[in-house]
Amino acid sequence: MTAVFYATTPIFYVNAEPHIGHAYTTILVDVAARYHRLAGDDVRFLTGTDEHGEKIAKAAEAHDTTPQAYVDHVSGRFRATWDHLGIDYDGFIRTTEERHKKVVQDVLQKVYDQGDIIYGEYGGLYCVKCERYYTEKELEDGKCPQHDLEPEYRSEANYFFRMEKYRPWLREQLEANPDLIRPDGYRNEVLAMLREPIGDLSISRPKDRVPWGIPLPWDEEHVTYVWFDALLNYWSDLVSHGLDDRYWPHTQHFIAKDILKPHGVFWPTMLKAAGIPLFQHLNVHGYWLVENRKMSKSVGNVIRPLELEGRYGNDTFRYFLLRDMSFGLDASFHELGLAERINADLANDLGNLLNRTLGMLGKYRAGVVPAFGPLREADEALRDAFVNLPSAVLREVEALHFDRAIAMVMEAVASANKYVSDQKPWELAKDAADAERLDTVLRNCLEALRCASILLDPVMPWKMAELRAQLGVDGDVILDDARHWDRLEAGSAARPGEPLFPRVDLEALKDTMDLSVAATAPEPDGPSTEQAPLQHKPEISIDDFAKLELRVGTILAAHDHPKADRLWVLTVRLGPETRTVVSGIKQHYSANDLVGKTVIVVANLAPVKLRGVMSEGMILAAEDADGKLSLAGLDRALVDGSEVR
Ligand code: MSP
Repeated sequence: MTAVFYATTPIFYVNAEPHIGHAYTTILVDVAARYHRLAGDDVRFLTGTDEHGEKIAKAAEAHDTTPQAYVDHVSGRFRATWDHLGIDYDGFIRTTEERHKKVVQDVLQKVYDQGDIIYGEYGGLYCVKCERYYTEKELEDGKCPQHDLEPEYRSEANYFFRMEKYRPWLREQLEANPDLIRPDGYRNEVLAMLREPIGDLSISRPKDRVPWGIPLPWDEEHVTYVWFDALLNYWSDLVSHGLDDRYWPHTQHFIAKDILKPHGVFWPTMLKAAGIPLFQHLNVHGYWLVENRKMSKSVGNVIRPLELEGRYGNDTFRYFLLRDMSFGLDASFHELGLAERINADLANDLGNLLNRTLGMLGKYRAGVVPAFGPLREADEALRDAFVNLPSAVLREVEALHFDRAIAMVMEAVASANKYVSDQKPWELAKDAADAERLDTVLRNCLEALRCASILLDPVMPWKMAELRAQLGVDGDVILDDARHWDRLEAGSAARPGEPLFPRVDLEALKDTMDLSVAATAPEPDGPSTEQAPLQHKPEISIDDFAKLELRVGTILAAHDHPKADRLWVLTVRLGPETRTVVSGIKQHYSANDLVGKTVIVVANLAPVKLRGVMSEGMILAAEDADGKLSLAGLDRALVDGSEVR
C-alpha cells in the first residue's frame, strides 16, 4: 500500500437531502481510509458541500429563504448524516468558506494573468441541473442524459478558460499513465471525449443573473462558474491548512460516473494551467439503481441512508453497500437483497461462527481461552487461510475491489465453519482423553474470529469492536495482529454478549413490501392442444444431469459486443465470482431490463470465444414458437451462487 493516502468524495450539492448514492461514495471512501489507516498509512479524507450556483440559489428561493441560510441548513444536514453514520472524515469543506474563496480567486488570477482566460461570447444548450453546456452529441433524444430534461438555449458574454489548448497534453497524460482514471472503461470514455475538440470552458456567469458565487478577482460583474469553483475544493482544503506538500502528490478522487467529464477533462486541464501537478487516481464507480431505474424524487424511489441504518444498523448497511457493488459497475438496490445479504453472510456465517464458538467455550471450558496443543494439518490449513489474508485483502482494496476483499475474508470464515463441522468439538468433549484436542480446536476458532474481526474492521468498525470484546480482546486494532495466530492469551476470559447479527425476518419484511402478484396464472397464449407434439431428446440418467452445474446469478452490467449487434456482453455475479457471459438475447432484452436481474447460469460450460469475446457460461431462457425468449428465474430471491438442481 502507499504510505500516504489523500482521498476525496465529490462535494455534494446542497439542493437535496443526502440519499443512498451520496452515502455510498462517502462510506466507500471511509472504508478505504480505514483500511489505509489500519495499514499504518498517513491518511487524509476530505468531503464537503458544493454551495454556489444557479440551482442552489433557485432552491433557496423555492424554500423562501436566503441562499446563505439555506446552504447552512442543508450542509449541516449532510454533516449530521455523516456524523451519525460514523464517517471518520478529516476535513469537511464548504465552497462558501472564505479559505476556499481565497484559493479559487488566487488560481483564477494566475490563470488569467498567464493569458489562459479570455473574454468572449458563447451560445449553446445548457442544463441548469448539471450547471453545464451540452453538445448535441452528448444529448439523448435531445435531453440531458442525467436529468432527462431538455436543455435551454443560452447565449452569454463570459470568460473562457482555454481548455482546448490543453487537450493534446491531457491525451498524452492518459496514454502515459494508464491507471490515472480507473477502472479502464472510464479512462476509455475520457480518451474518446478527447478525440474531438473539447472547446473552451465558460468559467464565469454575469453577476446580475447569477449573483450567488465567487466574484472574479479582476471583474466584479462576473462570478465564477460552479464547476471551476467546486473542483478546486480538493486543493483549497489542503492549501488552507498548509498540507498540500504532504498530501497532494497522493490524491485519489472518488466519484460516480455522472461527473466523469468535469473530473476527467475540466479538472486535469485546470490543474495544468494552474501549475498544480495531476492527481494520482480518479476512481469512478457506477450507479446504485432502484428497481433498475435511476433514483429520482419524481419517481418516488429515493432511498434514504438513515432509514436503512435505523432498520438494519450501520455496520450491516455498510457491509451490504461494499459487498454488493463491483467498483465501476452499476448495482441494483433492493431492500430484500440487503436483508438476504445480512442473513446469509453475517447471521449465518460470521454470527454463527461466533455463537457456536463462544457457546462451546462456555459449555466446555467455562468461557476461558484455552492453550493450543500440537497443530494438525487441518489446523494449519485454517491458520494459513487467515494469516495470509491481510496482504491479499489490502491488495484488493488498493485495486478498488472492495467486494472481493470482503468475499476473501468471508470465504475464510466459511472455511472456519466447515472446520468446526469437520472437527466436531462436541464429540471431542465426550472423552477426557481428547481434552487437548478440544482445546486446540476451540482456540483455532477463536483465533479465526479475532483475525476476521481485524480484517473486516474498516467495513464494520462498531460490530467488529463488539466481536473482539466478546472474545475478551480490548485495545487498538492492529493489522499485524491478523498475521499472527497466537494473539489471544490462554487463560483470559471471553465475554459473550448479545448475538452480533440477528437474522432479519424475511417473511415479515416481504409482508411490508408491495410484492403482490396476480393470484391466478394468466391464460397461456393459444390453446395447448394446437401445439405440435413435443420432440424429445434421448433420455439421460440422473448422473448425466448431475454433471451440470447450474447457479443463481445476478446481471451486474450489459455492454455492447464490439463486433456483434445481436449479442450482449454480460457481467454476471455468481456469489463470490463474477463471470463474463456473451448472450444472444439483445433483441429481447435491453440493458435496462437486464441489469440487476436474477438469472440461472450454466456455470461449468467450457469457456468459448464468441466473435472474439470469451464467454464463461450460459444463461437459461425459454423460447416460444415465435422465437420469443423469456429468461428463466426464481420465484423468490436467493443469494447469488446458490446451486440450482
Ligand atoms: N457538486 C457536484 C460535485 C462536485 S465535486 C467537485 C455534484 N454533486 S451531487 O450532489 O450531485 O453528487 C454526485 C455524486 O453523488 C456522484 O458522483 C456520486 O458520488 C454520488 N451519487 C449520487 N447518486 C448516486 C447513485 N445513484 N449511485 C451512486 N452514487 C451516486 O455532482
